Amino acid sequence: MNWLNQRARQHLIDWRAAGLERTPSVFSAGQEPVCTIDGREYVLFSSSNYLGLAEHPEVTAAAEQALQLFGAGSGGSRLTTGTTGLHTQVERAFADFLGYEDAVFFSAGFLANTGVLQALAGPDTLILSDERNHASIIDGCRLAKAAGAAVVVCRHRDPAHVDELLAQHRGDALVVTDGLFSMDGTLAPVPELLAVCRSHGAALMVDDAHGTGTLGATGRGINEHFALDGDRPDILVATASKALGVEGGAVAASAPVAALLRQKARTFVYSTSSTPATCAAVVAALGVVEGEGSPVKALHRNIARLTEHLGMGQWPSPIIPVPVGDEARAVQAADTLRQAGFFVPAIRWPTVPRGAAMLRVTVMATHTDEQIDGLAHAISQL
Ligand SMILES: Cc1ncc(COP(=O)(O)O)c(C=O)c1O
Repeated sequence: MNWLNQRARQHLIDWRAAGLERTPSVFSAGQEPVCTIDGREYVLFSSSNYLGLAEHPEVTAAAEQALQLFGAGSGGSRLTTGTTGLHTQVERAFADFLGYEDAVFFSAGFLANTGVLQALAGPDTLILSDERNHASIIDGCRLAKAAGAAVVVCRHRDPAHVDELLAQHRGDALVVTDGLFSMDGTLAPVPELLAVCRSHGAALMVDDAHGTGTLGATGRGINEHFALDGDRPDILVATASKALGVEGGAVAASAPVAALLRQKARTFVYSTSSTPATCAAVVAALGVVEGEGSPVKALHRNIARLTEHLGMGQWPSPIIPVPVGDEARAVQAADTLRQAGFFVPAIRWPTVPRGAAMLRVTVMATHTDEQIDGLAHAISQL
């Protein structure tokens, strides 16, 4: 056996022994409230398809039409042969939806975050990154470091710490944070961060992956939630992979920043672009969110129904943490819910700190009252 196989085997043995091995559940159909997973029917409370758009007839019809017209793949990267009218349309649609001058569409949210941080960082840049930021921001910071930037990890949701760190720095600085933290469903204090950034001449980048389509009365995300009409984060990353039910990540920014990203972000320049069918589906999904029958209100109503049952008061997001603490108890609680027919994951270290294990419930606009009440009852019996 060569060293590579030997190393892989040993890593897997160690990984398993540390209790970190994960095996994916296999879905037999789309992410609807009732679905078959590993051959058994469950009520699904763990999907990011918050608005039920993955299976929306207007979204799937748009994808099918583009598939017929353009075929399955895009045939190249954006700057070579991989730009269709649908690619430019999806970028315009995101910019208008989010209220920015321009938007650049990457084939995943992960690639958007890494691409932005790599492209905008230089030897003279300081990046301040929240300690609980998503892995794609962490990896983007690593690329920025390789380009000579300094990266400092700051305390979670703590504008005073950001203020303190910016006060010690002379030169360009970029503060980067998740908007809606994907594990515990809490929001970054964006208005306060914006004020601190402005007082030091720093720029602010917010990853609104889970806020797009879910936050704000019309689903326009964290800026709408905080009623940021004038000054806004300089860079807003929105994903099409969660509430919009498709895939891809859009970076909304000023015209010059967007233009620079199209030239310099390596995950944009050197990767095959999204399929035209993906772009068509995203444009259709944004149209549904903006349209008369928008599912955003139904999502908000369902969030309010479940969080009221759980005694959580006003809760802003569709990600609802049920704290358990002990890792083994959290796994047991998830198993008990599964036996009762509800699919809810247990989240443990290293995704969250040790001893802070929890159940991570996500709500969809398409859940019925009965399904929500049933889950709340099952949780109350744990
Ligand atoms: C906060 C956050 N940012 C970025 C991403 C990456 O987005 P995508 O799944 O579109 O690659 C995720 C996905 O889990 C996320 O939770």
